[in-house]
Amino acid sequence: MIKTVIGTDIDYAAELLCNGEVVAIPTETVYGLAANALNPDSVQKIYNLKNRPADNPLIVHVADIEQVYKYTYDIPEQALKLLEKFSPGPLTVLLNKKDIIHGTVTAWQDTVAIRIPKHTLTQILLDITGLPLAAPSANPFTYISPTTSTHVFKMFDGKIRYILEGGACDAGIESTIIGFPNNKPTLYRAGAIDIADIEKTIGVKLNKPDKVTRTPGMHKKHYSPFTPVLTVDDIDFEIKRNSGLNIGVVTYNAYTDQLPIDNQVMLGTTDDMTVAMNKLYATLHDMDSKRYDLIIAKRFPANGLGVAINDRLDRASKQ
Ligand code: TXA
Ligand code: MG
Repeated sequence: MIKTVIGTDIDYAAELLCNGEVVAIPTETVYGLAANALNPDSVQKIYNLKNRPADNPLIVHVADIEQVYKYTYDIPEQALKLLEKFSPGPLTVLLNKKDIIHGTVTAWQDTVAIRIPKHTLTQILLDITGLPLAAPSANPFTYISPTTSTHVFKMFDGKIRYILEGGACDAGIESTIIGFPNNKPTLYRAGAIDIADIEKTIGVKLNKPDKVTRTPGMHKKHYSPFTPVLTVDDIDFEIKRNSGLNIGVVTYNAYTDQLPIDNQVMLGTTDDMTVAMNKLYATLHDMDSKRYDLIIAKRFPANGLGVAINDRLDRASKQ
């Protein structure tokens, strides 16, 4: 068994990556399981570690826009506008890939998902290695994404050598993914950027993808704790209906009087949903360790960041 170390030694992390190994890295969204995107054998290790189906493509992380040009071509003007406005940051764009990006990374699709992450340690790592890093969220397929090094350790202890310690992730939810099929800006995954801000930047409404693409973010069950989750509008009704079970509640704005406060987590208020977004995964990790029979989560208002939060809560509740 491999000894898994958590630390801040960027040079060591860089050395491992250059030697073809997988390293967990912090980003501003969630932690990722990174490998050299130019080395198909290294990339394959990520799929094996995550138990991820081979037809689910990975996101490539690069240092700056110049690097985006290096690995992609025919970048739509709207993609450039978005990159200029939101990078470095939680934006992923789907662009035509150059041949240097191996099919293992993109699940043999012609487009590559690419983003410029904002976390300082990972930016330094990208600079030192000079490599594009393929990195999906550092969780086993269908489990909750990690927002701290401890979450990663819990899931990959004994399986990877190094977890680069970067503190708790700022956003706490994955990047927003925008593609441009037939030059129409399309939302592939709601994420840490408010959709209204994206639409304001490009001046048009985002399309929905017309067919369900090979995207695990679109699998019905995803981001799930082991404990069953029910995501509902009326938590009091569900608490009563499930009386007799040991229930944990995830809510916002106000606690319910149907259960002791100890059984409840208040994510935040709807005045500023970045707070709730930031606490969402950490709360689900924590609740999952409390051995409840059932977690009941209150669905957010479906506007702004509430869209991405509801997306994760609804997927967590699919059995
Ligand atoms: O915030 C994030 O995006 C995090 C951090 C680590 O960067 N990464 C992340 O990766 O969430 P992952 O693999 O968990 O989710 C990537 C999503 C998947 O839903 C995948 O199917 C989709 O991006 N994707 C990747 N390449 C794609 C492509 N060429 N076309 C369509 N979807 C793609
Ligand atoms: Mg993921």
